[in-house]
Amino acid sequence: MKIAILPGDGIGPEIMNEAVKVLNALGEPFELETAQVGGAGYAAHGHPLPDGTLKLAKEADAVLFGAVGDYQYDKLERALRPEQAILGLRRELGLFANLRPAILYPELAGASTLKPEVVSGLDILIIRELTGDIYFGKPRGVRECPDGPFAGQREGFDTMRYAEGEIRRIAHVAFQAARKRSRRVTSVDKANVLETFQFWRDIVTEVHQEYQDVELEHMYVDNAAMQLVRAPKKFDVIVTGNMFGDILSDAAAMLTGSIGMLPSASLDANNKGLYEPSHGSAPDIAGKGMANPLATILSSAMMLKFTFGRLEQADRIENAVKRVLARGLRTPDIYEAGTIKVGTEEMGNAVVAALQ
Ligand code: IPM
Ligand code: MN
Repeated sequence: MKIAILPGDGIGPEIMNEAVKVLNALGEPFELETAQVGGAGYAAHGHPLPDGTLKLAKEADAVLFGAVGDYQYDKLERALRPEQAILGLRRELGLFANLRPAILYPELAGASTLKPEVVSGLDILIIRELTGDIYFGKPRGVRECPDGPFAGQREGFDTMRYAEGEIRRIAHVAFQAARKRSRRVTSVDKANVLETFQFWRDIVTEVHQEYQDVELEHMYVDNAAMQLVRAPKKFDVIVTGNMFGDILSDAAAMLTGSIGMLPSASLDANNKGLYEPSHGSAPDIAGKGMANPLATILSSAMMLKFTFGRLEQADRIENAVKRVLARGLRTPDIYEAGTIKVGTEEMGNAVVAALQ
């Protein structure tokens, strides 16, 4: 069970320390190896995804990833920016299926900006296709505008595209995930405007023939955004493309009021995976010992479940997190009056202590 530990930038190293403590406390024969990525990779080796880091990620059975990005790297050319590390890992490792659960812990119901009755008990799973769409489509760039009223000026352009096989495999992931939940899938697209997403809708409908026990609904992305804040509990599994999934998963995460709590998994066809918190590197609070390590700790639980099939160990971690929340411990991002404010390390130590 070889795990590549990639802490990254900002709060990444702090939250990763706590996740590693939890993993080490499980008593499993993990082999952990750390490497630099993102701005830290650029600073040390001149590239956000150094060769050695990519090699380690390829060799390992799973990757635990912190977060990347810091103000000082914002002015670098695109190919050298920290974000390229995570995009490169997704592409190089073929991590096409991104699972982003949005779960509201009952103890944190007050943290949501939505009324408790709208969000209490919320448990949805967003499945975002992660290696296609306008994120990776070519050609892209800046060129001379060939026609129309702006002909002759510069124009920026990207290419939205999805191959049939790309849509099929993510649709299978969604229908299979739904079978383990309440058997409902909402496929989100923009079939009323985009050829790519009319094709998406047609292919998802075809794949659905193999899953007659699962209910499939199609929804336009603008409506999905509206329904997510109006009646989010109507959703179970949402499957969508890379770009729409990026946007909707942030909205869904915030329904829970605590993006610092949400883990994610990015899987290839063989359950090799990269696991990371849904939040970013939060450079504004880096080094202050106040970041919430729970999303990273819960990401390691997802790793135990999906890549290593260690369901009991994943449950141990999830239950320890629930116990710590029930005791009232809160990092500043989820703090409310009447609870106990703790820092990153204290939170990590409390989870270790609560493992049974
Ligand atoms: C995410 C992030 C990334 C994305 C960025 C950092 C490239 O926003 O994982 O959602 O857009 O996919
Ligand atoms: Mn995003």
